[in-house]
Amino acid sequence: MKKIVVIPGDGIGKEVIPATLHILQGLDLPFEYVYAEAGDECFEKYGTPLPEETLELCKESDAILFGAVGETAADVIVKLRQELDLFANVRPAKSMRGVKCLYDNVDLVVVRENTECLYKGYEFDVGDSAVAMRVITRKGCERIVKFAFEFAKREGRKKVTALHKANVLKKTCGLFKRTFYEIARNYDIEANDYYIDAGCLYLVTKPWIFDVIVTTNLFGDIVSDLTAGLVGGLGLAPSANIGERYALFEPVHGSAPDIAGKGIANPTATILSACMMLRHLGFSEVAEKIEKALKKVIAEGKTTPDLGGNLKTMEFAEEVLKACREV
Ligand code: NAI
Ligand code: MG
Repeated sequence: MKKIVVIPGDGIGKEVIPATLHILQGLDLPFEYVYAEAGDECFEKYGTPLPEETLELCKESDAILFGAVGETAADVIVKLRQELDLFANVRPAKSMRGVKCLYDNVDLVVVRENTECLYKGYEFDVGDSAVAMRVITRKGCERIVKFAFEFAKREGRKKVTALHKANVLKKTCGLFKRTFYEIARNYDIEANDYYIDAGCLYLVTKPWIFDVIVTTNLFGDIVSDLTAGLVGGLGLAPSANIGERYALFEPVHGSAPDIAGKGIANPTATILSACMMLRHLGFSEVAEKIEKALKKVIAEGKTTPDLGGNLKTMEFAEEVLKACREV
């Protein structure tokens, strides 16, 4: 029996998580689901957006399935990544049949460092000004670059590209770039790098030149929304936050207050995140089945409004579950 801690959170988190669980629970997996609270509403209720109890439950879990939170994101998801040392954030972007987007041949994965950089939270006022410190450590660079190459090797991917700004941020990005090429030498996989700004240009103009991208925290946050946009939007973008001991799976998107409460959020990103969780836990065949079913449903034009359809969040999940029983 695997213990899955489920944190729906705020806004559409409370819609896409039940839709995803509808599918998982319909497939009779040996999972125990334990619900935990975090986020804006939790803050209003208990005075803290991330109660100690939630953190403790996470530390007893085999995996965490996270929806989204709102304005407390820095104190919840960023904190969870640091507390649980979830140093690698894996964000695949792949074109899907039936989804209108710029290109139909995108298949790349952003591996984002998840614990350092400007997101360390070292920000302070200095007189009338404000300063944020960007922390990049050798250990942090080594483990994320190694993770990216090991990931590429395991997944049969051909190239790892580092994105950085080492010409301007000579110390921090310099360390990242140097470490990247040191580690790349140990692998029989092509390695190259671009400055982050040029990399963004190429991502939009010729995304097929990318395979695995590895980058620091802030750049990775921004670039992975860009790559999500390349393949049809945030409703489709899943992610895995991986550490030595813990793992948390969540859609890339936030609580989407503009559509929350209407029951129209696309649960695909969360369903695909759950598939990443299933693979992590050793249930690859089930993950395969759900992904196949999901792609079939979308290719048939049965989608939520963000993709031009008229299905509600739960109706879409029900279609996917039905298709799971057929594939
Ligand atoms: P967002 O990701 O919530 O929404 C951006 C846009 O994408 C909106 O137009 C939204 O309607 C759309 N969208 C997002 N997910 C969708 C889905 N599943 N289906 C259909 N459309 C979808 O980002 P935004 O608006 O910048 O932030 C809203 C709140 O979320 C903020 O309070 C922010 O702090 C929080 N946030 C939380 C994150 C987390 O919990 N991991 C990550 C990003 C933002
Ligand atoms: Mg983000």
